[in-house]
Amino acid sequence: MDLFEKVMERAKTADLGKYQAGADGYFMFPKLEGEIGPEMNFRTPFGVKPILNWSLNNYLGLANDPEVRKADAEGAAKYGLAAPMGARMMSGQTVMHEELEAMLAKYAKKPAAFVVNFGYQAMISIIDCIVDRKDVIVYDYEAHACIMDGIFLHKSKCGGEKMSYVYPHNDMEKLEKQLKLATKKVAETGGSILVITEGVFGMAGDLGNLKGITDLKDKYNFRLLIDDAHGFGTMGPNGGGTGEHFGVQDKVDLYFATFAKAGAGIGGFIASEKPIIDYLRMNMRSQIYAKSLPMPMVVGLKKRLELMTTNPKYRENLWKIVHAIQEGFKKDGFDIGKTQSPVTPVYMHGDPNASDVECTAEATNLLLDLRENYGIFCSIVVYPVVPKGTVMFRVIPTAAHTLEHVERTINAFKECKKKLDEGRYKAKTVDPWTMLKSGKVEF
Ligand SMILES: Cc1ncc(COP(=O)(O)O)c(C=O)c1O
Repeated sequence: MDLFEKVMERAKTADLGKYQAGADGYFMFPKLEGEIGPEMNFRTPFGVKPILNWSLNNYLGLANDPEVRKADAEGAAKYGLAAPMGARMMSGQTVMHEELEAMLAKYAKKPAAFVVNFGYQAMISIIDCIVDRKDVIVYDYEAHACIMDGIFLHKSKCGGEKMSYVYPHNDMEKLEKQLKLATKKVAETGGSILVITEGVFGMAGDLGNLKGITDLKDKYNFRLLIDDAHGFGTMGPNGGGTGEHFGVQDKVDLYFATFAKAGAGIGGFIASEKPIIDYLRMNMRSQIYAKSLPMPMVVGLKKRLELMTTNPKYRENLWKIVHAIQEGFKKDGFDIGKTQSPVTPVYMHGDPNASDVECTAEATNLLLDLRENYGIFCSIVVYPVVPKGTVMFRVIPTAAHTLEHVERTINAFKECKKKLDEGRYKAKTVDPWTMLKSGKVEF
């Protein structure tokens, strides 16, 4: 069979691909236009409409901050988008990159930091660099895809030998069990142990149990890597992250975060002891064989970090909105799970006995109503990621939202929940286009 024909066969049943016809350009790959912030325009195949946006990880509202926009523009005007040309190691090193690294190391309370061009690839590379075939990785079951890809790469080097152990999400008893096994294993291989978790789990907003994990350091010999993509800038008294929040940053051996969330940029960094950072600089394949972070981004990131460190108003505004929306949802009887971070999941429950298609149809209609009739834009997660009949909304508050936005949103959720409970979103087939085409989205 021709490879492309085979790929097209696979596409028909792929997890997300199978919904392409009913979702592409609206539920998937939506186009948000205008200046980044809570009020943007949503372009669909049927027109453009204003929406209240709760789907960007622009936690501190820095993406469209006037000082940030000015720094970005000045960086672009001075250096152009191409500079520096080449990978850091070859021809892409600059004083600005080093200055940004010094600022990041200070912020993350580590002796040294290394700026990377993309978070996802960097995480794969960090894992690839830090462990070899004799070492064991112990990781949380809900680890992000970039951590999993790093673990897959490690697996591929271990010749079929089981060298990675997963523990159920945040389950410290099971983590300890896995650490016992890992300790036994490395005694045989002569290797070492790396534990990996996220600081803030980005889907449900709960925190990695960093206190529990670091307490285990008294009993077991391991190093800890955390991916704090959602905690950097948002958690802890100074925004220094989830380690700072728990008061255990000194026990985090490798602290990783991306600039794609609170940093409102692109790229990321890893912070640790200086010799380890030097080793990573010299060995991370995703950095040695790929281009350095462009200059305007580096200049803009320095400005972002300066604002994050000198002006608490960004974090204060963020948490004001987080508390208002989370307390508001709870007061009105909504289930927001176990979040302890700005990430706000809202769980609603449709018909658990419906077929797969009926479940998707009900969730689709609910989101359609929320977007078309209430102008509220957020992402949803449906079965099979959550149990059948459950719809999880992922609401991301930012410092740029207002209390009026919060009130409007909670009222819209209340009305939609009432309709869901009355069974008004039920349908046999997933067909958003007919309603959208007719201009009549009514439930
Ligand atoms: C936990 C986590 N790690 C890593 C990444 C990847 O970061 P980047 O977008 O900088 O590649 C993300 C981004 O979604 C994330 O949520």
